[in-house]
Amino acid sequence: GKTGCRVIDLPRVADPRGNLTFVEGDNHVPFDIARVYYLYDVPGGTSRGGHAHRDLQALIIAASGSFDVSVDDGEHQERFFLNRSYHGLLVPNMVWRELDNFSSGGVCLVLASAVYEEDDYIRDHAEFREVARARRAAEPAPPS
Ligand code: TYD
Repeated sequence: GKTGCRVIDLPRVADPRGNLTFVEGDNHVPFDIARVYYLYDVPGGTSRGGHAHRDLQALIIAASGSFDVSVDDGEHQERFFLNRSYHGLLVPNMVWRELDNFSSGGVCLVLASAVYEEDDYIRDHAEFREVARARRAAEPAPPS
């Protein structure tokens, strides 16, 4: 997508005993997996996320149920609906994300490229826009 986010189709082992999906670091995701966390028991109508990471990359999976992920790279916005246990939304660094519309029983599984470090978070949207702009200005223009 235009924000750099994309949905990755993960391996699926279909089985009458129940289906199975797996994720290998540096194979199905373009980073080493340093941390796994998950959101669960999310009350309907609440929103999670609301931050960006300076360096961390993540794969966001609706392990159960469904939710929406709104992303913003400072220039473009996109919205993804996740409702398959074998789909992962790859979210690069410097992308603001917000998760909402959790279904009842919805579980958001996150595979992250780094351990928890509060200094890597940008939790203020105005600051995010400023850092995103500064980074774009420091980068060579993409090929046209
Ligand atoms: P927060 O990042 O605000 O949740 P989200 O953005 O997903 O809605 O995290 C909530 C709290 O949990 C915050 O005090 C930091 C803490 N936390 C950890 O200690 N380790 C972790 O790996 C994560 C993701 C959060």
